[in-house]
Amino acid sequence: MTAPEPRPIVIFDTTLRDGEQSPGCSMNLEEKLEVAQALVDLGVDVIEAGFPIASPGDFEAVREIAHTVRGATICGLARCNEKDIDRAWEALKGAPDARIHVFLATSAIHREFKLRMGKEEIIQRAIDGVKRAKGYCDNIEFSPEDAARTEIDFLCHVVEAAIAAGATTVNIPDTVGYATPAHFANVIKNLNNRVPNIDRAVISVHCHNDLGLAVANSLAAVENGAGQIECTVNGIGERAGNCSLEEVVMAMRTRSDFYHTTTGIRTTRLVPTSRLLSNITGLQVQRNKAIVGRNAFAHEAGIHQDGMLKERTTYEIMRPEDVGFTQTDLVLGKHSGRAALADRAKALGYHLTGDHLHEVFEEFKKLADKKKEVYDADIAALIEKQMNVAEDQWKLGTYEVHAASNGEPSALVKLQRAGEEVSKSIKGGDGPLDVLFRAIEEVTGISVVVRDFRVHSVTRGQDAQGESTIEVEHEGRVYRGRGVSTDTVEAATLAFINAVNRAAAGGGQPASGPRPDMV
Ligand code: KIV
Ligand code: ZN
Repeated sequence: MTAPEPRPIVIFDTTLRDGEQSPGCSMNLEEKLEVAQALVDLGVDVIEAGFPIASPGDFEAVREIAHTVRGATICGLARCNEKDIDRAWEALKGAPDARIHVFLATSAIHREFKLRMGKEEIIQRAIDGVKRAKGYCDNIEFSPEDAARTEIDFLCHVVEAAIAAGATTVNIPDTVGYATPAHFANVIKNLNNRVPNIDRAVISVHCHNDLGLAVANSLAAVENGAGQIECTVNGIGERAGNCSLEEVVMAMRTRSDFYHTTTGIRTTRLVPTSRLLSNITGLQVQRNKAIVGRNAFAHEAGIHQDGMLKERTTYEIMRPEDVGFTQTDLVLGKHSGRAALADRAKALGYHLTGDHLHEVFEEFKKLADKKKEVYDADIAALIEKQMNVAEDQWKLGTYEVHAASNGEPSALVKLQRAGEEVSKSIKGGDGPLDVLFRAIEEVTGISVVVRDFRVHSVTRGQDAQGESTIEVEHEGRVYRGRGVSTDTVEAATLAFINAVNRAAAGGGQPASGPRPDMV
């Protein structure tokens, strides 16, 4: 007897929507396009590109991705009202394969305190919303927000009504990360057994990680018939984040004996995609993060090393190369050419062409003169540096800074923007970075409060590049900046300018409290 074919699971990536929604993870248009392309290379089925009504920036990003990115379904989020749905379609309509994702909260807490609506009204609203979306495209996803805390009978009714109105995917969110695996398995089992038209839609799950159970809950749902998992690269997302794409995919693959499922994910792209996202957002994953953390395959204990040398599988359930770790990341030197740089950049998840490739190559040659060995992380840093500087943004010209333990610090900075140069010299403050940052604030006219500041080395050795990440608050919103240089003061200065440029562009996440567009 032949074994049954593994069941395909749809991988719905929401890095650019739920992920981008979390503080410090906001991305500009160019960065979102880069991530969207990397997600296609990774093999995700659906890209949730944003929430078009939330802001002009979100709208533009969804529209641009819908127009240019091919190889995945492009999805846009909308609340269950005409304005949101119309706006979502306006952004999505350039995509050959589009999906509108409509959501409406259904739990008693949300009905009573947020929506002030009764059950009947919720059902009618869901039907109207799905029908309106269906007027635009066939592929409609409906999410009863806070489903995991919704009374199961009512949840079954809402789901049945949404499918009858035309939803082709019904997504069951654990919005607040409250579910546990046995509980969530039971919710999915009930929907499968009790919703009469459930065979007309795919059951999806969307789990948050507040109790650290997002992956476990998603897997429990798959065991009970869920056919789509919503997840994000590195598990980024609201609060404690979403189900981590790399973890859930590798769990299903490593334990295919148990789950009997398959996905379209090219697992060797997992590490490059994780790194690309970390480089873009400045949010590094912890070293011991499953699958993509730096230590995920490092065996320290002597007894483990001994076992590994005798037989790898004694202590290793996956091979590092299966998820995209390479043996060595020493790649280029000063004799390497443009094609080699473009090729290596592609392996790292970036698509360099034309002027962009030319600019990065010029910077690469300068760096290769300073450093004998140019690592993958150096190349990623160079590309990010170029991506982060648009014509209308401030760039660092030169700076001078003087500081001593017994004297007042002073700084002179020259910044350039669209062909003009502005300089400022100031004295006093808490050391060289403080005085430099204040000079930059004076030149740009943007004042910020620094919330977090870090420097670490990108690669190894005395000549390693230093990476500085900084998080600032401006007018109640949070912005992150990143700078890389062989000089750590310059790295910090570049990170600060990067954050100030983002603050000037606006659109960061609120520093505290709920996102106004999510209520
Ligand atoms: O967590 C949630 O409920 C959501 C919905 C919009 C699907 O993100
Ligand atoms: Zn969510």
